Amino acid sequence: MAETVLKLSGKVVLITGGSSGIGLAAAQLMHEHGAEVVIVGRDAKKLHEAVTLIGPQASGVAADVSKLEDIDRVMKVVAVRHGRIDVLVVNAGTSHSPPLREVDEAAFDAMIGLNFKGAFFTVQRALPLLGVGASVILTGSAAADLGRWGDPLYAASKAAVRSLARTFANDEALAHRQVRFNVLSPGAVKTPLTQEAYEQPDVDAYVCAAVPLKRWGAAEEIARAALFLACSDSSYMTGSVLAVDGGMGQV
Ligand SMILES: NC(=O)c1ccc[n+]([C@@H]2O[C@H](COP(=O)([O-])OP(=O)(O)OC[C@H]3O[C@@H](n4cnc5c(N)ncnc54)[C@H](OP(=O)(O)O)[C@@H]3O)[C@@H](O)[C@H]2O)c1
Repeated sequence: MAETVLKLSGKVVLITGGSSGIGLAAAQLMHEHGAEVVIVGRDAKKLHEAVTLIGPQASGVAADVSKLEDIDRVMKVVAVRHGRIDVLVVNAGTSHSPPLREVDEAAFDAMIGLNFKGAFFTVQRALPLLGVGASVILTGSAAADLGRWGDPLYAASKAAVRSLARTFANDEALAHRQVRFNVLSPGAVKTPLTQEAYEQPDVDAYVCAAVPLKRWGAAEEIARAALFLACSDSSYMTGSVLAVDGGMGQV
């Protein structure tokens, strides 16, 4: 049998929202590929369980990435523990917000505060730690381009993430250091975030009808694309969107 090539040997990976779903699957796969992985989430118990599951080269920082002081604390911990970041996965996010007519200011601030503001400041505060050739992966969503799907705040927050990747990728100083920014764009994926939805037969039927591949994705399928964007296999990609959505946003 062919020997497994370790694609992230010795690399330092920071994943926000790494204690569950897509982030956890990415953390496990990147760890299997030789990375030292730091994961971030708010719930310390969930974080601890995830770190144990990922393996010996994993650690966690409990933090709320919608708060700047927490983001700064995460970066300080990573600086002390590892001195640099080779792969940053800006993944913490939610999709839960009310439909158009029920959105109030608090709901607006919560969604935008995590998915957009959190993503922006996670990247900004990580910049001093990003080494030459670092890869930054921002988790977007097929919903960013689909007016018919999702709710307005969620779709707009992920469209903002896509916009950030374009402008970050075009930053001259970062580009000279070969720092790359790409969006990983999942469709409908079975995770704790979507559990309530996929357990409802009508929602499940709607999703399976809308997705060309006629099924939900698995977090592990998104993680394999994250590994590709993280490692040198994607060394000539920046400012791109990699859609892993069963065709949902493509046809
Ligand atoms: N599942 C899908 O169908 C789908 C589709 C497209 C895009 N996405 C995107 O993929 C990303 C991951 O989603 P998922 O489905 O894997 O969700 P998930 O299973 O709910 O995981 C979310 C992760 O983010 C963490 N998190 C949430 N709020 C946070 C905060 N304020 N600060 C720090 N960490 C926080 C959670 O931990 P704590 O709760 O402990 O903080 C958890 O580790 C999100 O950006 C989501 O929008 C998901």
